[in-house]
Amino acid sequence: MKESYNRLFEGNKKWAAEKLSNDPNYFKGLSMGQSPEYLWIGCSDSRVPANEITGTKSGEIFVHRNIANVVVHTDMNLLSVLYYAVEVLHVKHVIVCGHYGCGGVIASMNNKDNGFVNNWLRNIKEVYEKHHEELEAIPEIRDRENRLVELNVIEQVHNLAKTRIVQQAWKKRELQVHGWVYGFDNGLIKDLNVMVDEISDLEPIFRFDL
Ligand code: CO
Repeated sequence: MKESYNRLFEGNKKWAAEKLSNDPNYFKGLSMGQSPEYLWIGCSDSRVPANEITGTKSGEIFVHRNIANVVVHTDMNLLSVLYYAVEVLHVKHVIVCGHYGCGGVIASMNNKDNGFVNNWLRNIKEVYEKHHEELEAIPEIRDRENRLVELNVIEQVHNLAKTRIVQQAWKKRELQVHGWVYGFDNGLIKDLNVMVDEISDLEPIFRFDL
């Protein structure tokens, strides 16, 4: 325990020195600003670092993470990130990336009390309830969990499309919202092919007259 965090400083020094030896202007370049093409909405899980699993560098992905990559329309944090990414940074792609074996999704599939987190998991329980027939017809618990991971991602893609921020962008330009799932079995990201990029992809009642 004692000063185990020191290894983070040591790691940082080594990393910074490495970057500078490859490119003496590396940090100078980063300090000039960012223009990422992607907004990543992923799980807080320590095993799913956006840049690392996509082989991208600092400056390439704008990132928001929370438990089980949920898009809640009253979440000021997420909405602020989304607004900034879309309106100011002009990202071209918004990616919701879930992951198989997601603790948040699994925890929402039973009746255990998770204290304060119950409030957050409620969002995933709603997705479960919406698809409970399909889910309960799946015999293997692991397969059922994996399917809810996918259904949760699809729901969040639609939740993004329901925001005024995304619909406003669609009035003016191209913006694609993707749903992906990452797996620990092979380290690969699967595209669920549920991309939405226009207002007609959204159920009519959620469309705003902008
Ligand atoms: Co997770």
